[in-house]
Parts: sequence; structure tokens; C-alpha cells
Amino acid sequence: MYSLAKIEYPRFALHNGPMSTSPTFLGRYPATRLRRNRRTPWVRALVAENRLSAADFIYPIFVGEGAKTRTPVSSMPGIDRITVDLVAEVATEAAALGIPALAIFPEVDPACKTPDAREAYNPDNLVCRAIKAIKAATPDIGIICDAALDPFNSDGHDGIVEDGIILNDPSVELLCRQSVVQAEAGCDVIAPSDMMDGRVGAIRAALDAAGFEQVSIMSYAAKYASAFYGPFRDAIGTKKALKGDKKTYQMDPANGDEALREVALDIDEGADMVMVKPGMPYLDIVRRVKDTFGMPTFAYQVSGEYAMMKAAVKNGWLDNDTAMIEALMAFKRAGADGVLTYFALEAARLLKRD
Ligand code: PBG
Repeated sequence: MYSLAKIEYPRFALHNGPMSTSPTFLGRYPATRLRRNRRTPWVRALVAENRLSAADFIYPIFVGEGAKTRTPVSSMPGIDRITVDLVAEVATEAAALGIPALAIFPEVDPACKTPDAREAYNPDNLVCRAIKAIKAATPDIGIICDAALDPFNSDGHDGIVEDGIILNDPSVELLCRQSVVQAEAGCDVIAPSDMMDGRVGAIRAALDAAGFEQVSIMSYAAKYASAFYGPFRDAIGTKKALKGDKKTYQMDPANGDEALREVALDIDEGADMVMVKPGMPYLDIVRRVKDTFGMPTFAYQVSGEYAMMKAAVKNGWLDNDTAMIEALMAFKRAGADGVLTYFALEAARLLKRD
């Protein structure tokens, strides 16, 4: 028999600061037993570093034309595309659960899609009608709308396409018009998801010039050209329209430092909140953004992340509730102030029950 106390353990330093290199600071076994703080539910609750609540969620909803119809999105089990007359119901439920905001995404009638994406700034388009329906039903929930042309563009791109090139400045002009129209309909937060250069500053100026200095901007500041948007493009019917990929404007997944430059520029241009997207594969970026700028920082747990988890759950390979909560908690731990998540309703209901 040997005494465990005599075993030499390496002295790990958690940080490089002078305090942390001291073994008394870190503690040593056997006097220190980290399992004591994990022994019971009450002690785990007491020492938990992060908490999750409905107030952390933004719920993205898909709206489509028609009446009284819910159309399940097949690649996103549990998510329906709904008609505008059903939007108020969802908004009211989300508000009652304590979810602070919704993000609206439209499935635009293909007949309204044109190369100049003019439907994007039609004041009576699907997004504007959905905003008004929500505002009429409940003032208790914030409304976030994308500034991007893809749902309205017959080329399926976030900007205007000419000879295969996604034009920057002409696209920004249209994004400004789109943003103002959405603000006029009652949108609280414009979320530029298009990744054109300079769009945050231009949208800020356009909103201010139109008297909407109180309308916020949550920029999709570091948005990557990701494979994980597939189910979303099914949901809003942009997959078929999309010619090529989005690599000339969305970021290369290989890059991290560049994300900090993107975020810095958007803050400089007037963004109130910044977002990283996708979510779970990019939590390193979330952490760096939060540490570097201390801004209200959000992450988008995108459609493909949701689809992966639901597919595994359907096969019996993952437990829905624990995997969902763990994934959402990971965003908080990484420094996110909130998460855009298709799990929002489900998770809020679960958290309310517990
Ligand atoms: C489009 C937009 C996309 C998402 C939000 N806004 C897709 C894309 O850039 O192709 C993705 C959301 C998701 O996958 O859940 N501007």
C-alpha cells in the first residue's frame, strides 16, 4: 500500500499570472478534491458559473404566403413555416415564456423574386406584414429582421449579381432601403446578414436620416460561408435559386483574426450588438469577440446545427433535452449574451418546468 498523498503531481498553472503558479492557489490533492463541489444538485447549482434562461434566446421564425397554414420544414423537425395570420400566436407564446425577441425570415413567392430584388423594399412585403401582425398582437417582444437580399433575389445571393459578381455598393443601397421599410413597419432591430462591406454604417445613416435613430443594429459581424445553412435555405426556398456559393462575401472558416477585424469595423460603423454565425463550430470566435470588445455578443445556432441534433435524437442517438441544454449552455460559457436558436420555444418551456 502506498499513500496517495506522497505521489508527486504536476503543478498546473491555469493562467500565466503570478498568483496562479502557486500550488496553494490551485490546491493539491488530497486536501483539494474538486469532486466535493459536484457532490449534490444543490452544490452544483451553487457553484455554477453560467445560467441559462429564456431571456438568453432569440427565436427565428419562418413565414410564408397563404392563410392558416403551418408547413413543417422537413430538415428541421419541430419547426414549421407559418402564414402571417399565425405569427401573432407564436409571438404571444414566445413573449409569455420570457423570450425577448423573434427574428423573421420570409419564404418569398418565387414570382416576386427578381434580379434587382425590389420586393425587399416593398413596404407591403411578407416581412413587413409579419412585423405589423406581431406588433398588433404583443408589444412585449422585440422584432429582429435581416437586411439581406437573398429571399427576394432570383439569384439567391445576399447582394445584387452582375456578370457573376456580387456587387457591393449597389447592394448596400438596397439594404438601406430594405432596412428603412422594415423600420417603418415596426421592426426594432435591423440585422444585416449580407456581409457586404460598409453596410452597417450606411444602414445606420439611412435609419437616422429617416428618423429611426432608436432602431438598433445587430450585425452579423462574423458570418462564415458555412455548410450548416442548408436546412435554412430549404425553409425559405433559396436553395434552388442560389447560383454558386457565398464565398466572396461570407468569411472563410479558416480565419479567426479576420473575424475580429470584421467586428471592429461593424462597431466603428455603429453596430449596437454583434453576432457570430454559425454557433457551435465557432465558439472560439465568440470567446475572442467577447474578450476583445466587451460588446453585447450573440451567436446563431444555425439550421444545420439544429438539424444535426434533431436527426441524432430521432435515431435515438442523443437525448433531446440534455443535449439541447448542454449546447445552449456552451454558448453562454463561450461568452455569448444570447443565442439565436430554433430550440428557443422548446428550451424555454423546459426551463420553465424545471
Ligand atoms: C441569409 C441568411 C442565412 C441565414 C440567416 N440569414 C443563410 C445564408 O447566408 O445563406 C442562416 C440561418 C440558418 O442557417 O439557420 N442572409
